[in-house]
Amino acid sequence: MTNLAHWEHIYRTNATDQVSWYAPHLDVSLQLIDRISLAHNAAILDLGGGTSNLVDDLLARGFTNLSVLDLSPAALHAARSRLGALSNKVRWLAADVTQVELVPAHYDLWHDRAVFHFFTDSAQRAAYVRQLTHALKPGGHAIISTFGPEGPTRCSGLDVVRYSASTLAAALSDISGPRLRLLESFISLHPTPSGATQQFLTCLFHLD
Ligand SMILES: C[S@@+](CC[C@H](N)C(=O)[O-])C[C@H]1O[C@@H](n2cnc3c(N)ncnc32)[C@H](O)[C@@H]1O
Repeated sequence: MTNLAHWEHIYRTNATDQVSWYAPHLDVSLQLIDRISLAHNAAILDLGGGTSNLVDDLLARGFTNLSVLDLSPAALHAARSRLGALSNKVRWLAADVTQVELVPAHYDLWHDRAVFHFFTDSAQRAAYVRQLTHALKPGGHAIISTFGPEGPTRCSGLDVVRYSASTLAAALSDISGPRLRLLESFISLHPTPSGATQQFLTCLFHLD
């Protein structure tokens, strides 16, 4: 099964609030977003946003320049249906982050919860870092959440890479060096809908 077929199958066969990564609100991300004090028209990309409610919470905070990119059209369709008319205020991009053409130096914030850790291949990680450093404005921020050092080794039937703050910062260094400066990191415990607990790492980076 291709990666696209895998995620389409997941979103077509599971209720959006029953997938293991479901959270009613992404509290750690929202606290960080509040802290970096973005303008309401800041360009924000939720990368691999899937059916996350982050976009709802950002609309409710008054952000007006939101994009959600995900490999799975089924996930984006579900998120748009949930939002109804409000979905017209969001740009929806069905694409593979490692291949899509992104506008250079465009985004003030790149948000990724539970996407980067699926890239177990160094070529995929390099492509991701190229996209991130290309699409983020100099001075912009990235919030990246992965499973932490004690987190699961697999998710949704796929292998993942677990990270500490220092290994994530190293993984996001591109060939020209660490342009993404780690500002803060947090470990949190995510309660899954089935009652398990998963350790997450969330890091805030600044593009120098
Ligand atoms: C574990 S889910 C997390 C979804 C969302 N960020 C959240 O926290 O609810 C991973 C998401 O990454 C998306 N994804 C996986 N590989 C991708 C890729 N190469 N490009 C874009 N999205 C991808 C999947 O479709 C899925 O929605």
